[in-house]
Amino acid sequence: MPDPGLFEMMDTARALRVLKPDPVPNALVERLLHAATRASSAGNAQNWAFVVVRDAALRREVGALYRRASDVAAKVYAARDRPPHLTDRQWHGMLVAGAHLYAHMGEAPVLILPCLQPRDLPPADRFPPEVSLADEMTYLDRIRGASIYPAVQNIVLACRALGLGTVITTNHLRLEAEMKALLGIPTAVDTFALMPVGWPVGKPGPLSRKPLAEAAHRDRWGKPWAP
Ligand SMILES: Cc1cc2nc3c(=O)[nH]c(=O)nc-3n(C[C@H](O)[C@H](O)[C@H](O)COP(=O)(O)O)c2cc1C
Repeated sequence: MPDPGLFEMMDTARALRVLKPDPVPNALVERLLHAATRASSAGNAQNWAFVVVRDAALRREVGALYRRASDVAAKVYAARDRPPHLTDRQWHGMLVAGAHLYAHMGEAPVLILPCLQPRDLPPADRFPPEVSLADEMTYLDRIRGASIYPAVQNIVLACRALGLGTVITTNHLRLEAEMKALLGIPTAVDTFALMPVGWPVGKPGPLSRKPLAEAAHRDRWGKPWAP
């Protein structure tokens, strides 16, 4: 298997939504999970959990749920304008590929749901008076996703390295309670993505992104980045 360098992988780890139903060996799934659990998490809490759905009947049910949740997403996208940095072709390409996944999520041989278990604050009486419990709760809430999305991106890059295809999806969050009930995920645990994993029909390819001058600022907001 070719071993592209890290930067080439980052440059080519595009969303691969059309996946073959062919099986993915458990050893490769373990490598993805290993990569995921090399990520950082706030306070090194490692309060993540990865639900890996392999069972075909269950995958079909997850897929049906994703389909229903995506019906809403499709209407929201229909109401959106094309972002100016995308060409018509790129925008419609994304919508068409997204719609393919609405109908085929459950056929991917592996579905991974990265989750977070709650991370509570210490009891209030351990805080000195100058620490506001309310502010700390707001802070925790603000950084919550930051303890799981690095792991999610590690899965994306590990898939790229192994020749597998995947894409980060979140449409199921519109029906998250049903998803949790289906998979026996405790109410207090939140799901952050649903990632189909399989051998891709298409190839990884160069990503198209806004120029750095539009994305980065030099010293202060508003002064475009220049090398
Ligand atoms: C937070 C997040 C949520 C996303 N949700 C979905 C989704 O529900 N369905 C989907 O098909 N793609 C979803 N995507 C994938 C994006 O559409 C995709 O990453 C983007 O179009 C860039 O694609 P590219 O990397 O191939 O250029 C999501 C991506 C992110 C980061």
